[in-house]
Amino acid sequence: KRVAILISGGGSNMVRLLESMTGDHPARPVLVASNDPTAGGLAKATSMGVETVAIDHRAHRDRESFERALLKALDAAQPDIICLAGFMRILTPDFIDRYAGRILNIHPSLLPLYPGLNTHARAIAAGDGFGGATVHLVTPELDAGPILGQARVPIHPGDDPETLAKRVLAVEHRLYPAVLRRFAQGDLARQDLSDA
Ligand code: GRF
Repeated sequence: KRVAILISGGGSNMVRLLESMTGDHPARPVLVASNDPTAGGLAKATSMGVETVAIDHRAHRDRESFERALLKALDAAQPDIICLAGFMRILTPDFIDRYAGRILNIHPSLLPLYPGLNTHARAIAAGDGFGGATVHLVTPELDAGPILGQARVPIHPGDDPETLAKRVLAVEHRLYPAVLRRFAQGDLARQDLSDA
């Protein structure tokens, strides 16, 4: 299976996904694309031998124009699977339809709790005992597609959004590669990471 990864920033999830696709893994990376030419993940992907492309969304007059450029780069790479990894642009239904059922995203909350932004601050403010991450299939409704896997972490009394974000990111780095490997083998069954 051919995997394209979309990023907007440092790409720590992208790095773990790239590191996981070796040996008998059923998938191989074919492209890393970013909407931000300054994204730190682009240099990391290049150093790991993966082709990259930057398509600056600010250089396009509208969302459709940006997505046309992104789709051109993706269609050239012929991915079977697209992984959004810290990708901060909302994709239109037309884009999602183009790769229906083959776009994965990782979101830093236990969906359906806290779709959207500032997930850690919201979980802390709500007094939740746990935070976590979710890998789901991307559908036109934001952060609402079928869940492929979740990982839970405890929220400690002294946590602030930064300390919780750090704890969640650490399990994202285990969850996403595990879900991608199963998904690339055609296994759509939800599999949560055991509390570790
Ligand atoms: C992090 O907030 C992570 O929780 C979310 O995207 C952001 C950046 O992740 N998935 P990454 O380091 O660019 O993968």
